[in-house]
Amino acid sequence: MTEPPKLPPFDYQPQPYLGPSAEEVLRLGRQFLNPGLFLYYKRPLMLVEGKAQYVFDEQGRRYLDALGGIVTISVGHCHPKVVEAAGRQNALLQHSTTIYLHPNIVEYAEKLAAKMPGDLNVCYFVNSGSEANDLALLIARVYTGNYDVIALRNSYHGGNASGMGLTAHRTWKFNVPHSFGVHHAISPDPYRGSWGRDDPDAGYKYAADIKSLIDHATSGDVAAFIAESIQGVGGCVVFPENYLSRAYEHVWAAGGVCIADEVQTGFGRTGSHYWGFETQNVIPDIVTMAKGIGNGTPLAAVVTTPKIASTLTQRLHFNTFGGNPVVCAQGAAVLDVIDREKLQTNALKIGNHILAGLERLKEKHNLIGDVRGKGLLLGIELVKDRATKEPATAECGQVLENCRDMGLLLGKGGLYGQTIRFSPPMCVHQQDADFLLDVLDRAFSVV
Ligand SMILES: Cc1ncc(COP(=O)(O)O)c(C=O)c1O
Repeated sequence: MTEPPKLPPFDYQPQPYLGPSAEEVLRLGRQFLNPGLFLYYKRPLMLVEGKAQYVFDEQGRRYLDALGGIVTISVGHCHPKVVEAAGRQNALLQHSTTIYLHPNIVEYAEKLAAKMPGDLNVCYFVNSGSEANDLALLIARVYTGNYDVIALRNSYHGGNASGMGLTAHRTWKFNVPHSFGVHHAISPDPYRGSWGRDDPDAGYKYAADIKSLIDHATSGDVAAFIAESIQGVGGCVVFPENYLSRAYEHVWAAGGVCIADEVQTGFGRTGSHYWGFETQNVIPDIVTMAKGIGNGTPLAAVVTTPKIASTLTQRLHFNTFGGNPVVCAQGAAVLDVIDREKLQTNALKIGNHILAGLERLKEKHNLIGDVRGKGLLLGIELVKDRATKEPATAECGQVLENCRDMGLLLGKGGLYGQTIRFSPPMCVHQQDADFLLDVLDRAFSVV
């Protein structure tokens, strides 16, 4: 066989690693960490350094991080502007809470609000996507006075009680009561659902299920509808056009507000737009964001309108770390870097290049049943048989193993772990994309 593809050259030397071995870390983890944690790869990988679109293991071996820390590294690992902003604030004042004034939180809120359409200009800061969705539900219920919430099957919204209730994958749901009042509508999945990409009315047809659910499963009055703008953990499911706009009409008619979960789709990642919901031509009432917002720091936000926010003044609401001066400095630097380095444009360009390459791979490898996504949020669904669409879970795992051996890190999604996910930092280059496609081609050839 020919030589495996080579990573593009990169002028950076990782520091010598002097810590415990991967085996020792694994052993300690088994003893002292949550036994439910899952690790990728038969030989678990330890990462000790990152720079731009690359990460390094303890031996100094470089990998292309084409999963981006699960869609969290937006502008690149340890981007110098982000490191500098966080470092400067770390040295001045690390924490004060919102009971005192601090410029960072307001300056950051103003910058973030400037990125939002319509009246979406009031920001709440929290620490994770799960917390953001929990708060969004609270706001929706207090504002509307209603209780029932419509979410989508195949969604992922977090691991706390509310997030788990909204999530619709049995794999992430413990057998305990969580988030009462949530009803799950059909996932508008053009590959596996009843209406495909060849049906121009698919968006309306899937949205009709929301109306049906409101009529049959609720009192007719709902608090909210929540959806990811592209279902990420569910395997990069892109909704048919007109889906969200029609879904929102049904929800507004039932007195509810519409929440866009932009945890994976925000901050330019879809390439064509800054926010994923814009690809569906809607303006939500509440937007939740996390992951890429902070490029790896525990920062998340809920953004809504002044009218909706005003109802949350009925009681005290407080979050100890929300809007912390360090994370706000880091968040502001991320916004600047996305603009200054034109990373949204890059996400579109490189994303389209990868997408076209994946389509070519689909012609060559029968295991690839579907290719989809927008910008740098892409997925390929693997099936044993294109007619039955039986999920190819084991094969998906093997392709990921093969890629890792060649220096490429990818992700997995879908209910059966049958979808390979691509979400590299948005600073990725065309040479990286070509490397990724070459490695993937080879990885499929030996499954
Ligand atoms: C779309 C979406 N919403 C919410 C969450 C939860 O975010 P966190 O893990 O920060 O709580 C995730 C995490 O993967 C997500 O993908």
